[in-house]
Amino acid sequence: MSADTQPEWQRRRTFAIIAHPDAGKTTLTERLLLEHGAIRMAGDVKARGERRRTRSDWMEMEQKRGISVSSSVMTFESDKATFNLLDTPGHEDFSEDTYRTLTAVDSAIMVIDAAKGIESQTLKLLEVCRLRDIPIITFINKIDREARDAFELLDEIEATLALDLSPVTWPVGMGPDFQGCYDLVRNRFDPSAPSEDGTKRQLVQCTGPDDEKLDAMVKDYVLEKFREDAALAVEAYKPLDPEAYRQGHMSPVLFGSALKKQGVASLLNLVETIAPAPRPQPAEPETVRPEADYVSGFVFKVQANMDPNHRDRVAFLRLCSGNFKRGMKLKHMRTGKPMAIQNPIFFFAQEREITEEAMPGDIIGIPNHGTLRVGDTLTSGPDLKFTGIPSFAPEILRRVRLDDPLKAKQLNKALTDLAEEGVVQVFAPMLGADQLIGVVGQLQLDVLTSRLGTEYKIAAGVEPSRYQAARWLISDDKAALKKFIEKNRANMAEDRDGAPVFLAPGTWEIQYAAKNAPEIRFSASREVA
Ligand code: G4P
Repeated sequence: MSADTQPEWQRRRTFAIIAHPDAGKTTLTERLLLEHGAIRMAGDVKARGERRRTRSDWMEMEQKRGISVSSSVMTFESDKATFNLLDTPGHEDFSEDTYRTLTAVDSAIMVIDAAKGIESQTLKLLEVCRLRDIPIITFINKIDREARDAFELLDEIEATLALDLSPVTWPVGMGPDFQGCYDLVRNRFDPSAPSEDGTKRQLVQCTGPDDEKLDAMVKDYVLEKFREDAALAVEAYKPLDPEAYRQGHMSPVLFGSALKKQGVASLLNLVETIAPAPRPQPAEPETVRPEADYVSGFVFKVQANMDPNHRDRVAFLRLCSGNFKRGMKLKHMRTGKPMAIQNPIFFFAQEREITEEAMPGDIIGIPNHGTLRVGDTLTSGPDLKFTGIPSFAPEILRRVRLDDPLKAKQLNKALTDLAEEGVVQVFAPMLGADQLIGVVGQLQLDVLTSRLGTEYKIAAGVEPSRYQAARWLISDDKAALKKFIEKNRANMAEDRDGAPVFLAPGTWEIQYAAKNAPEIRFSASREVA
């Protein structure tokens, strides 16, 4: 199909940037937006330096920081595509939010610090991408700084990803010798030095890395090494195969510097030209294709109090099929009730506005008062349920300690709200009254106590509980499950949907229990009901 006749939704590119903190995700995001005039000045997100503060300042920091954290979705356009960039918070401790955001994208860009290679956070995020077959473009950032050898980095990435790599841009010098980036696919040199009049540099079209034009522009010894390395890279790695990339067998790799805008245009070009358009989404009873004639989507995130003056909640709906129009009535599958979507919000860089229509791949914000939860399906068509939006077994379990015991009722309400938003998980022990909260990272606890104080006016802290691990119990053998629950009642709880959860002081006890109950699966994740 030609570009003119292809349906509009095929121009959508819904993607996320994943990175270990400090690898340069924020800088790259700014550059991408800047490239398309979405924000006038990079403005370098004023509060950047404030990020170094302690965790407890997190909430306030988020509010001050502008684009990178508070905009969950950033939409911008080029001639060829409309990009929906979904933000994945990249803190040391990361939350379930991040995982779930990845359920709503069709592709991801993995940013790696050229001096550090693959780091722990990147690994975790990669696993999620792999689980959902999300194709990955690799951006090796900060090559203008002292960096590791390019081939060594590629080896490490190849071994970690266990898929083919195909270099798309190659550094012309690194660290102090950095002179620019060369696009091996389009044969363009992007020099790092500014033009003589200090204005934007021109891209230099070449015939290949050996083009003589480069001799006048790049220091001899740098050019010599670049030519040698580029030749070796072309020989050692497979050429870019868009289909292999989309199927998740190959990752295109770009070397660049977000700070110096190097490799960024090549990156965006790649997303435009080869990243997948909205993909079919897994659902029961069958996969939903974007071209289906009904509107459908799922909620992957709920954010409360985006506007501090109104107790509002915005549910972020990833549209998976059909042409959505404002005012449409969609069936809310969990309750079976229709919902008229009167004020869908669309996100343009830093602005948000009511949208009249949206299509597959788009994210719309739906203001509501708690009706919509993470994992919910909305549809105008046949009954269906999107699958694969996970809850993760908490790695930290705590009891909430109230400073004022008379506030117990308010606390319950607040915890229910925050659990629906996905900030924490709440477990009700089968014996005893104290609710337990579970989180994947410490940061979620800080967010919890901070929000209890500022939004709900409840002074509370968290206390250790005797449990350190939790697993959902899943079994087709109902009798065995019942028996296990009865026998272990003192260590059992229910999640907010009433699903049984086994609590233990550590993973050793879980393994032990699992060994003695082979008919039961002790699951570390659960699909949101
Ligand atoms: P993050 O969102 O992934 O956490 O990273 P962020 O973009 O905030 O970048 C982390 C630090 O790395 C910042 O420096 C940023 O300027 C720097 N950086 C990002 N990309 C590049 C690059 O391509 N080259 C170089 N040399 N540095 C880069 P900072 O000192 O934390 O902040 P600032 O004081 O410089 O603003």
